Amino acid sequence: MRDAAFTQPSQLIPLGPVEILLSVKSFEKENTGACRMDQHAQIAWIREAEGDWSMALSYEEFKKAVSELCGTDLFLYKSQQMDRRIHSLMNFWGIRDYDEYLTALKTNPQRYQEFVKRLTINVSEFFRNPDRFIELWQRFLPEILQRTGGIRIWSAGCSNGAEPYSIAIILNELNALDQATILATDIDEAILRKAQHAVYSFNEVKSLPPDLREKYFRQEEEVFYFDEALKKQVQFKKHNLLQEPYPEDMDLIICRNVVIYFTEEAKHKIYVGFNRALRAGGYFLTGGTEPLLYYRHYGFENVATSFYQKIGPPSENLEAGHWSLSL
Ligand SMILES: C[S@@+](CC[C@H](N)C(=O)[O-])C[C@H]1O[C@@H](n2cnc3c(N)ncnc32)[C@H](O)[C@@H]1O
Repeated sequence: MRDAAFTQPSQLIPLGPVEILLSVKSFEKENTGACRMDQHAQIAWIREAEGDWSMALSYEEFKKAVSELCGTDLFLYKSQQMDRRIHSLMNFWGIRDYDEYLTALKTNPQRYQEFVKRLTINVSEFFRNPDRFIELWQRFLPEILQRTGGIRIWSAGCSNGAEPYSIAIILNELNALDQATILATDIDEAILRKAQHAVYSFNEVKSLPPDLREKYFRQEEEVFYFDEALKKQVQFKKHNLLQEPYPEDMDLIICRNVVIYFTEEAKHKIYVGFNRALRAGGYFLTGGTEPLLYYRHYGFENVATSFYQKIGPPSENLEAGHWSLSL
């Protein structure tokens, strides 16, 4: 889809009348804050003051066009954070209007990659919040292994791979790596390449117990190379949580520090999708700052801090609720 968009840089986005909120000080003095413009006025509207941009393409139209370009609905991300990131990059590149911005993203693959990266901040590290990993090690992974014999794990929004590789380390310590399938997905192709490369800085491995760091990494000065054999145990795949079907029959889904960027509607779809992707009794591990509210409505029980166990399907009231559940 993205490639197709690159080959059609002249695609036109129809402009209807738009409402423009004004922020330029000089304009604010003379106006009440909003005005309606026709198409010609939009095109003629060039801001001259520093830091302002022309308004031929409105911000909403820009976001819609970029959503089509990236294949991900930007309206499903929390708008304040999203807006800040979009505009900081716009300022950084010295782009003054949304038309120019859109053209740059369509015609310049490097800028496009940078844009996706900025939108999807992908900080991660091994054993991030170590207590949760210790709990996986001592309680949840042994319990699943005993129950099922084989184990299917999905790290959704895996970033640089530190999260699924942490799981591989634990499973290896439990002598259970050969019984496991570890799927790791992310929307960002560049970060997936980094994950497959598996080369880390000290900051990214600092939370690992030192004996594990020594056992599973080759260190050259400040660079840490992850164990080649374990690397092969994780299957990486590009996947958009907001748009693509979910894998099935999972015993454990780890999705941490991802939904924090999403709207309530998007989170709702994701939680329903996770419930369906899990086998009965399977677990969903969230990030510390994104507890699952109304977990029973989503068919989960809260069994430990940030751990939710599937106890059934999402409630029917929820299915019939306000948001569309189709994925
Ligand atoms: C902050 S990182 C979290 C990494 C890891 N889970 C952790 O907690 O350390 C967020 C990741 O979510 C990914 N992401 C953002 N939107 C996504 C989407 N719609 N589908 C899949 N992954 C997405 C980003 O590319 C980024 O790598």
